[in-house]
Amino acid sequence: MIKIKRPEEIEKMRVSGGIVAWTLAELTRAIVPGKTTTDELNRLAERLLAEAGAAASFKGYRGYPATICASVNEEVVHGIPSPRVLQPGDILGIDLGAIKNGYHGDGAVTVPIGEISDEARRLLRVTREALFKGIEQARPGKRIGDIGSAIQRHAESHGYSVVRDLVGHGIGRDMHEDPQTPNYGKPGEGVWLKEGMTLAIEPMVNIGGYAIETLADHWTIVTRDRSLSAHFEHTVAITAKGPDILTLPPTGEAT
Ligand code: MF3
Ligand code: CO
Repeated sequence: MIKIKRPEEIEKMRVSGGIVAWTLAELTRAIVPGKTTTDELNRLAERLLAEAGAAASFKGYRGYPATICASVNEEVVHGIPSPRVLQPGDILGIDLGAIKNGYHGDGAVTVPIGEISDEARRLLRVTREALFKGIEQARPGKRIGDIGSAIQRHAESHGYSVVRDLVGHGIGRDMHEDPQTPNYGKPGEGVWLKEGMTLAIEPMVNIGGYAIETLADHWTIVTRDRSLSAHFEHTVAITAKGPDILTLPPTGEAT
């Protein structure tokens, strides 16, 4: 069942989304290549959410042990923070969900650690562009397949693949609501998009094949071929005026 949000509910989600975006930006700024660990970023995220009066969406979700997901290089998503030191040349996916006043915001970025290869830089650019191609489709009269196909086309036109086994989602009072929002699909297929729907759109793009596997920790998802993977996510409201990105820092500055 898809839950349509009233404007006041969307404004609450913008508050949560703003906290997510601000925190992701602060985490990114805090990284010192060759020094910072993903555990330290997790602790910083905990502190910043507490200061903002928000709670972590992920911690305790199906037993997930941390506030952020920190996924390095061939890790696609759901990497668990650890004493691993971020090294120059790594790429780090940071995923964060926050709940305040009963509503969730969910967002992710993949950031370069120091100088990275041209190949890695291109992957980050194309994945972020693919997210925005998807967001552009999030408007009344379009369908869920229009979002996925726009993302898939952009990624595949650069020779990359889009993960199939994990998808975006509706979001609101629950972190995961209907409808599922795949990052692949056909134009004109799937659920019709309506004003008041709120979606977390989150392409995961691999340089190699789309196949993934789960590591022995039962959480970390990696590419089966161990190729690099990137992940970007925004929470978006569908409005009469078009897509309204809720995971922007309160200044309105995009991350
Ligand atoms: N953004 C991811 C999602 O929407 C993060 C979930 S991590 C988990 O599913 F630990 F909460 F599962
Ligand atoms: Co999500």
